[in-house]
Amino acid sequence: MLVDLMGRMDDTLTLAIQGYGWLPNRLRHSPQDVVRTRLLGQTTVALRGPDAARFFYDEQHIRRHGAIPEPLRGTLFGKGAVHTLDGEPHRVRKAMFTALLMNGGYDGLVERAETAWDAATRSWAGRQVVLFDETAPVLARAVCEWTGIPVQPQDLPALAADLVAMVDGFATAGPRHWRARRARGRRERWLADIVTQVRRGELDVPPGAALAAVAAHRDSDGELLDPQIAAVELLNIIRPTVAVTWFVTFAGHALHRWPEHRGRLRQGDAVFAEAFAHEVRRFYPFAPFIGGRARTDLTWRGTDIPAGAIVLLDLYGQNHDARLWPDPYRFDPDRFVGREIGAFDLVPQGGGDPRTGHRCPGEQITVALLKALAVRLARLDHQVPAQDLDIPLHRIPTRPVSGLVMAVPARSA
Ligand code: HEM
Repeated sequence: MLVDLMGRMDDTLTLAIQGYGWLPNRLRHSPQDVVRTRLLGQTTVALRGPDAARFFYDEQHIRRHGAIPEPLRGTLFGKGAVHTLDGEPHRVRKAMFTALLMNGGYDGLVERAETAWDAATRSWAGRQVVLFDETAPVLARAVCEWTGIPVQPQDLPALAADLVAMVDGFATAGPRHWRARRARGRRERWLADIVTQVRRGELDVPPGAALAAVAAHRDSDGELLDPQIAAVELLNIIRPTVAVTWFVTFAGHALHRWPEHRGRLRQGDAVFAEAFAHEVRRFYPFAPFIGGRARTDLTWRGTDIPAGAIVLLDLYGQNHDARLWPDPYRFDPDRFVGREIGAFDLVPQGGGDPRTGHRCPGEQITVALLKALAVRLARLDHQVPAQDLDIPLHRIPTRPVSGLVMAVPARSA
C-alpha cells in the first residue's frame, strides 16, 4: 500500500499487483466485511456479502453515473452505455436488453453456437488447437448471425480478436490497453454505419433480431439512439457473448483437472450440466468487483461512506466465501444440484433483479451457452498435452496461460 502526500493510504498499486487477491486480502481482517481505503486518490469503501449486495443495489444508495473510470468506458463498456445510466433512463434502456436477452428468446443463439462449434471441431481432427482461440470465433459467428449483424465468414477471426481485445485490455496500462481502445474505435464505427443503413432501409434485418431492435429503440426522451450509442449497445451484446470464451476455457480446464465430471456431462445430464456451469462461474476468476458512487452520506455496518465516494462490491471474494460456499476452493458442481440460488448469493455477473437493477441481463445466455459447450467439450475426444495451465491471479482478466492446448485425434473427425 502506498501513502499519499497527506499521509493517506492508497491501494491503487496494490490492486495492480495483487489483482483478484486484493479485495479478499483487504477484507480478510474485517469482521464486518467492509474496508475503507483510497483508489486513484479517491475515498473508496469496499463491501462484501449478500447483505452488502442488497445495500449496494439499492438505487437510493448507489448511482452508476460518474462511477466508471474513463479507461474502462474507453475499452470494455463504451461511452454512454447502459452500465452508466441511472433511474428512468436506465430502466428504459435496460428494458431493451432484457426483452432481447432473457426468457428463452436466446434458443436460436445456443443452436447457432452448437452448429458453429460442431463445424469447428470437425476441422480440429488430427491437430493441436488452443481452446480459447478456437472458441471466440465460434461465439462471434453465432452471435452475429443471431443479432442480424452481417459479417463475412472470412472477417470473423478479426472480429473475434477485436471483441476479445476489448475485454482483455480494460484493466491494464500498456499495449493490451491500447489494442482494446483501437478495437473499440474500429468496431463502433463499423456498427454505427450498419445502424444507419438499417434506419435508411438499405439493409435487411430479420424482424425481432437485436440489430433491428437496437436501431429502432427510443430512449426515455423519446429519441432514437445516436448511431454511436447504438453501436456501443450492440457491442454490449456481442462482446460479452464472445467473452463466454473465458468460461468455456475454464470449463476445459476443470474437465482436465477433475475428469470425474466428464461422464455425467457426456451423458447429457441437464441438471448436472447447469450445476457445472454455475460452478465454473463461481469458482474461476472473471469480474473481480463492481463499482458505483455513494448518492448521499451513507453508513454501512458502522463505516461512514461520504457522498460521492467510490463503493465497490467484492464479487470474486463473495463467490469464495466459506460462509456461503463450504470448502470454497473445491470445484464441486454438486453444490448447485437442488440448491435454490438467492438473488444476492452467486454474483459472478452481479446480483439482484436484472430487470430493475444493473445485474447482467446476459446471465441466462451465459449459462445456456456454457452448458451446451461444456457437454460438447466433455464429449470431444482429446488429450491435454504438457503446457502452462497456471491461472495467474494478478492478471485481470485472467485465463490459463496456454489458453488450453488440446490434441484432437484424427479419428474424432
Ligand atoms: C452487466 C458480467 C455475459 C450483457 C454485467 C455486470 C457484470 C457482468 C459483472 C455488471 C453488473 C452490475 O454492474 O451490477 C458478465 C460475465 C459474463 C457476462 C462475467 C460472461 C461472459 C454477458 C452477456 C451479455 C451481457 C452474454 C449479453 C448478451 C451485459 C449488459 C450489462 C451487463 C448489457 C449492463 C447491465 C446494466 O448496467 O444494467 N455483466 N456478463 N453480459 N452485462 Fe454481463
